[in-house]
Amino acid sequence: MNAPAERTVRHFLDIADFDAVTLQALIAEARRRKQARAGLPHGVADSDRPLDGRVLAMIFDKQSTRTRISFDVAMRQLGGTTIMLTGSEMQLAREETIADTARVISRYVDAVMIRLLDHEMVLDLAANATVPVINGLTKLSHPCQVLADLVTFEEHKGPIKGRLVAWSGDSNNTLASWVHAAVRLGFSLRVASPPELSARPALREWVKANGGDVRFGDDPQKAVAGAECVISDAWVSMGDEDSTKRHNLLKAYQVNSRLMSGAAKDAIFMHCLPAHRGEEVTDEVIDGPQSVVWDEAENRLHAQKAILKWCLGKS
Ligand code: CP
Ligand code: NVA
Repeated sequence: MNAPAERTVRHFLDIADFDAVTLQALIAEARRRKQARAGLPHGVADSDRPLDGRVLAMIFDKQSTRTRISFDVAMRQLGGTTIMLTGSEMQLAREETIADTARVISRYVDAVMIRLLDHEMVLDLAANATVPVINGLTKLSHPCQVLADLVTFEEHKGPIKGRLVAWSGDSNNTLASWVHAAVRLGFSLRVASPPELSARPALREWVKANGGDVRFGDDPQKAVAGAECVISDAWVSMGDEDSTKRHNLLKAYQVNSRLMSGAAKDAIFMHCLPAHRGEEVTDEVIDGPQSVVWDEAENRLHAQKAILKWCLGKS
């Protein structure tokens, strides 16, 4: 006997794969779980422990602080356990294929979370796994982050549908997941990036094919005008070449007090972290009253729980 009988596996690979109802349910579940354990020490499990006896394998081929810790603590608080792996320790590094890795790992654990820059490899893992696969960041998207960002927006500003959000900086993986979210949840997104670092044609095509109010431009002032949320991210993402040219191109896209003053008066500032203070954001903004970045980081924990429960068929 080789493969187990075919069944639908609930992967969490991209925000684009979900409809508004499912995304709203995930946001609501994250918020509910956050409220339910307010004030509890982190080592205390949630009262229902829905993932009792379940094991999550986490494979990190790249660095992580938030994703790694929040998934680990989320599993513990839901009653499950984790196994932490790095790509370099696995036979993957000695040319075992991702498909074979998927087949094997599915026989040991209940779900896999992976951070690997090569998006196609993550899709290949999912295609060959018989357990859920969660995208913990690829070069093309960062869906777990943006689910937490949506939780954060709604917690501070109410329902996101119909609202105006702005992005200033590189058109990277996090932006792509924001674009997916804008289209699926029906909010407006204004993007400002240097033309040399603008969104991939495939992402623009996806927006065209799926509708939605996403505009790609190169003027940060124009992008933030009236926005209720301004977002920035690293100028140099994992896997990018760090060059003076890149920094020079992105200088005009820094989120500073002057740029924030063009957004709505009560706009919030978000950043997935890690931040490079003095580059994509100034201290005065990230440490200022409009910044919600620490709530955003905390919400990774609550959002991971919603994702894990959904993947494992518990919601
Ligand atoms: N925002 C985020 O994904 O952080 P880590 O790289 O620390 O996981
Ligand atoms: N865009 C950043 C996000 C880090 C969490 C990167 O890919 O490095």
